[in-house]
Amino acid sequence: MPPLSTSAIGIRHPAYRFRCVACGHLSDHASQDFRCSTCEDKDLLEITYPQWQESCPDISRLKSAWQQRRLSQSAIDRSGVWRFRDLLPPLTNADSVITLREGNTPLYELPRCARITGVPRLFGKHQGLNPTGSFKDTGMTVAATFARLAGFRWVACASTGNTSASMAAYAARGGMRSLVLVPDGKISWSKLSQALDYGSVTCQLRTDFDGCLRLLQELVLRAPVYQLNSINPFRLEGQKTLAIELLEQFDWQPPDHIIVPGGNLGNSSAIGKALIEMRDLGLISRLPKLSIIQAEGANALVRTLRETGGKRLISVHAETRATAVRIGNPASWKKAVHVLEATAGACEQVSEIEIAQAKAEIGAEGIGCEPASAVALAGLKKLLQQGFVKPEESVVLVLTGNLLKDPDYTMDFHRGALFNGTPDEIAAAALNPLRRPPIVLDATLDAVLRTLEEAEKIL
Ligand code: F0G
Repeated sequence: MPPLSTSAIGIRHPAYRFRCVACGHLSDHASQDFRCSTCEDKDLLEITYPQWQESCPDISRLKSAWQQRRLSQSAIDRSGVWRFRDLLPPLTNADSVITLREGNTPLYELPRCARITGVPRLFGKHQGLNPTGSFKDTGMTVAATFARLAGFRWVACASTGNTSASMAAYAARGGMRSLVLVPDGKISWSKLSQALDYGSVTCQLRTDFDGCLRLLQELVLRAPVYQLNSINPFRLEGQKTLAIELLEQFDWQPPDHIIVPGGNLGNSSAIGKALIEMRDLGLISRLPKLSIIQAEGANALVRTLRETGGKRLISVHAETRATAVRIGNPASWKKAVHVLEATAGACEQVSEIEIAQAKAEIGAEGIGCEPASAVALAGLKKLLQQGFVKPEESVVLVLTGNLLKDPDYTMDFHRGALFNGTPDEIAAAALNPLRRPPIVLDATLDAVLRTLEEAEKIL
């Protein structure tokens, strides 16, 4: 590969600018690593829209255009991301979009979880129903589109699994090659198999996610490869549409709380950015509280807030069975601290047992999600205990990934093997009533009838 000039990646448009989250420096272009070229911290960039200050978009026209596009047959209108393109970096050509009809995800009522938690107005925004099974698709359609517009042949990411599955799909659809860096042995087979099937060059590195991301940051400065991690601000612009679509589903009446799991902290940052922009544009009159929940074993943001008041990142060595959030050095921590402050949200951590229980409870709703998503329900229980969430308030849990993303976890749970050999082994017995292990029987009517009778007693 030819060496690369790292000065700019050639994306220039008068409608938006890149702004450093640390020093505020504004620029009309970004370098290959999407980091500030002027400040000492070399901090992350975000996309801003100076034109909104000069002439605020007409809100009622926007709302009706977004509704109208639902009825259109064109790919860009049918995408639940590009339908909201008025709040995204503009495209010069609508045909340039790489889309798999992402977004348009359901907002489910969660009546069983509502009874368990005592919060009647409890909802799940199921991002696991995106084309590759996670919220990543909403960001990937935007970032992959801009990668191709910028002339890149190669895209790359470090991943705990979902980003790589999504990137691989969008790269393939867009006719680009893709390079995946994942931690060896620490991601689910389902996610890895997606990247393989979509044709990525997939490298299992003998390190963790944080090691993969560090290496990627160096790689993009040496090779003409466009990085599609959430460090890439175009990704976060696409992920904003989760919140826009959610508010549209609530008829622009904000819920009291939105609760989201936190790993590398891109998603929470994107949702928070969307909420703030919608408030500033007058689409909503007040901000929901956005809270971020982490697994206890991957609690960098929790510790950062408790030990430094959000001033300095405390990295951790991450360990959790919710492998999607097995991240110890979250890249977007400053953005996350900002949105927590701006929306007056909370940040909490939950144990492995609490995650397993919440996942089974969401499964029993007939919805299901992957372990990292269940972190949000486990977190809600904590926030209720602390009085931060009141039972009469409305709460949305962001379910980030599909149940089928991690079948090993689900099987281990129901077979009673999830906590074998861990310090939680004895305490995990409390979860037995939620387990539904498969039952092996002789193929006789009697055997099945007896099983039915037994089951009737416990349901
Ligand atoms: N939930 C799921 C299912 C995820 O895959 C991730 C992150 C998160 C939550 C956390 O989101 O990083 O934006 O705070 N997955 C990454 C990946 C990092 O590589 O797939 P975040």
